[in-house]
Amino acid sequence: MNLFDLVPCSITVQDKNYKIIKYNREFADKFSPREGDYCFKAYKGRNKKCADCPLEKTFMDGNIHFDEQRGVNKDGTTVHWIVKTSPIKNSAGEIIAAMEMSINITQQKLLQDKLKKSESKYYAIFNNIPNSVFVLDAESLKIRDCNESTETNYGYTRKEMIEKSFTDLFQDKNKDTFASLIKSSSIINKVKHQHKDGSTLFVDIRISPSEYHDRKVFIISSSNITQRLETEQQLIQASKLTTLGEMATGVAHELNQPLSVIKTASTFIMKKTNKQETIENDILLTMLSKIDSNVDRASKIINHMRLFSRKSTLEFEKIQVNDLLDRAFQIFSQQLKIRGIDVVSETDKDLPVITADPNSLEQVFINLILNARDAIEEKWGNKGNKPGDKKIIYKTHSDGEHVFVEVRDTGGGIPEAISEKIFEPFFTTKEVGKGTGLGLSISYGIIKDCGGRIYAESAKDNGAAFIIKFPIKDTM
Ligand SMILES: Nc1ncnc2c1ncn2[C@@H]1O[C@H](COP(=O)(O)OP(=O)(O)O)[C@@H](O)[C@H]1O
Ligand SMILES: [Mg+2]
Repeated sequence: MNLFDLVPCSITVQDKNYKIIKYNREFADKFSPREGDYCFKAYKGRNKKCADCPLEKTFMDGNIHFDEQRGVNKDGTTVHWIVKTSPIKNSAGEIIAAMEMSINITQQKLLQDKLKKSESKYYAIFNNIPNSVFVLDAESLKIRDCNESTETNYGYTRKEMIEKSFTDLFQDKNKDTFASLIKSSSIINKVKHQHKDGSTLFVDIRISPSEYHDRKVFIISSSNITQRLETEQQLIQASKLTTLGEMATGVAHELNQPLSVIKTASTFIMKKTNKQETIENDILLTMLSKIDSNVDRASKIINHMRLFSRKSTLEFEKIQVNDLLDRAFQIFSQQLKIRGIDVVSETDKDLPVITADPNSLEQVFINLILNARDAIEEKWGNKGNKPGDKKIIYKTHSDGEHVFVEVRDTGGGIPEAISEKIFEPFFTTKEVGKGTGLGLSISYGIIKDCGGRIYAESAKDNGAAFIIKFPIKDTM
């Protein structure tokens, strides 16, 4: 009897009519039953038996039953119990009463509710952030879960996604490269993904290893940057068209040379033919091959122009920076010569290749050349000058991990006060119509995209130098 009273849970014994015939102290303290109370009245303040009653089951089948129940405390607060009922039999084995034991689990229940609430709060956040979030199996890279934003971004429903491997979303042929990249890096920028409708999607990917339901996974968030890139590309294109105008003069000069060779050769042949003179075979051959090679040269110049004006597709490839620099300076060689500006090349012949989009990079170099030209013109304008006063020097070298490009001029340099601003969009010190202020800001973006950095150095009265540092390691 002592034990019955001391156990730390409520115990009652009830007859077949659910009337309480015995109870322990804990029950008395918790529920303050009155003499002759029914179980449902004492526990829950009801006037009728509960619909789902474990006691009833025990009376029916003589077995032990469990249930989870809810009731009201003396002070009106809700209480949850786990209830266990077992039969009490007489010596003849007939059930004469049943014992009901209940353990209060209100605290656990409250915690569970809290957890559920916070879980559903996080689930709502998970689903509603605009980024796509994926949970991948760390080994197979199969998608095990994803949020609702993935459908907006990729067009696939969650159900369709869960059947896929994450690498299926990559557009490039070398999915294997991406598979190993995902396992080894934390950020992959500007990758091409494929939308369900076949269109291309540019995304930045963040990867973090984690555990999910006791398995190793990667949590991946991908943000759609397609629209931002499109706007950027449009701006780059606009500034490129301005550059093209500047290039046109250079190209005209460039084209003049092959054209005059062709002209000379064809005039010679025409004259001879008119006079019905024969031309020796080997001379004729030399003439014709001169015409042939100069036609090639002219079409190369025109092609180059056409390629440059094309909107860049952000295709990264291995690039020898020296060649690209030579080519950019080549376009302006005549124009610079006419202005008395010397070009000095000091490139490292053993320069390693880098990975970048050649079309965009060429635009960077041209921007630097035009800025150097403008700076020199502004400083020396009509002043008398000695040879070597007006000069653009371009250098390349490598430290094994980076390739450095330097374009230095003998213009007025960059005043300290504006050195912070020159890379800002639309910052220009040139008169309206001459400068757009886009050159350096666009160059900055392009260099950043291939993992590099561009910065300026200026010594007063000693001109300016722009230095670009590219990583050699393939970052894509
Ligand atoms: N080589 C240079 N020497 C001196 N100042 C320069 C040089 N390059 C750029 N700058 C300064 O940076 C500004 C921004 O250059 P940029 O973005 O190319 O625009 P823009 O050439 O249209 O002015 C220039 O207006 C000029 O003041
Ligand atoms: Mg400029």
